Amino acid sequence: MKHIPNRIYLPEDRIPRQWYNLRADMKEKPEPLLNPATGKPVTLADLEPVFCTELARQELDDTTPYFDIPEPVLEFYKMYRPSPLIRAYQLEKYLDTPAKIYYKFEGNNTSGSHKLNSAAPQAYYAKAQGLTSLTTETGAGQWGTALAEACSFFGLPLTVYMVKCSYEQKPFRKAVIETFDAKIIPSPSSTTNAGRAILAKDPNTTGSLGCAISEAVETAVTTPGCRYVLGSVLNQVLLHQSVIGLESAEAMEMIGEYPDIVIGCAGGGSNLGGLIAPFMRDKLTGKADPDIVAVEPASCPSLTRGRYAYDFCDTGKITPLAKMYTLGSGFIPSASHAGGLRYHGMSPVLSKLYHDGYMRAVSYEQSKVFEAAVLFAKQETILPAPESSHAIRAAIDEAIKCRETGQAKTILFGLTGTGYFDMTAYENFHKGNMNDYVPTDEELEASLSQLPTFS
Ligand SMILES: Cc1ncc(COP(=O)(O)O)c(C=O)c1O
Repeated sequence: MKHIPNRIYLPEDRIPRQWYNLRADMKEKPEPLLNPATGKPVTLADLEPVFCTELARQELDDTTPYFDIPEPVLEFYKMYRPSPLIRAYQLEKYLDTPAKIYYKFEGNNTSGSHKLNSAAPQAYYAKAQGLTSLTTETGAGQWGTALAEACSFFGLPLTVYMVKCSYEQKPFRKAVIETFDAKIIPSPSSTTNAGRAILAKDPNTTGSLGCAISEAVETAVTTPGCRYVLGSVLNQVLLHQSVIGLESAEAMEMIGEYPDIVIGCAGGGSNLGGLIAPFMRDKLTGKADPDIVAVEPASCPSLTRGRYAYDFCDTGKITPLAKMYTLGSGFIPSASHAGGLRYHGMSPVLSKLYHDGYMRAVSYEQSKVFEAAVLFAKQETILPAPESSHAIRAAIDEAIKCRETGQAKTILFGLTGTGYFDMTAYENFHKGNMNDYVPTDEELEASLSQLPTFS
């Protein structure tokens, strides 16, 4: 039998030259974004004041299957891609499982995560359009770091609104973001109407992605030459992240493998949407039938306990409405929840696929996730991000099931990033101070009762 190496690297000239748009192969498309003022599907003209034009086009395009990656973005990708596909031999041995476990490692760049895959094209298109600045939000900090890197490279000033509790938990994120010349503001802040309104209601709020999005969008639409960019949830972001899945599929093909199970953590859905893209294409076109699994925190369970409904993408209710699995745009996850995966909604593409039965979802409490993170760090010698560790937890549990049934399944999961800025959370785990907060049905119901009445 052919020996499979620990790390499978594609040659540089095999970086995908096109992104794959999963929507093109969906017979039933995701529901369109709605303009909250009219209740009608948004148009390019609606989106252009907020997003740069090419990105707005990508957002609305449900039919073009492949988009050429611009040459300057390919040059940028070459600095850290192709990323390795790794066979988890040591983890397999430790678990004594017949399963073959592979992971696609996206943490080999300064931002420490997959977020750079979308940051680079977003900064590039904005610069190419002649825009003069960008704004964004960041939760755990990886997106803000990635976008700061990309904006610095392509020469665009950037303001980052960072969710306040993460800003306080991870002071060194600020230093990294400032290294790339971006400005960083803890959110909610008094610099925007949205921030001031949220603070007036709850001065002690620890913030949420939804609040930070409101602030960033408001700044973009009130500043000439400025646009807003988002690191997850949107169709365009899933499109850019398809490089993860395309490279994974090609590397697996090179070693004669195909996954029985594909697992990814799910915050807003960008890494998962990107990782599964070619495998979901096979599923949608009847070529293969892999089991596709989204893993989310029990503290912010949009797929497993949310509602499939039209909702605002932000807390201040200024964005378009997206039909997605949501916990309500006012939902603020417990501050005790470490890391990202704190978003109230889920990508409309993934929400539709989940709703139509093409994938399943599981949720875990964070102490189970950190147990898996520590086990993985010891066996594979990579310190994983808490977000990525949700996928690790599910992969380990699938491999344990294989040990029990004797099935030698091939498992592929996304290792989206490293956890070097998450040491406070690791420390809390080591000290036994980790709190597994799970919202009650009543709390979720209170938030869901505020959903706008569009369906
Ligand atoms: C390392 C890492 N993985 C995963 C995620 C989740 O985002 P998404 O669901 O968009 O991939 C984040 C978000 O902050 C992240 O930083």
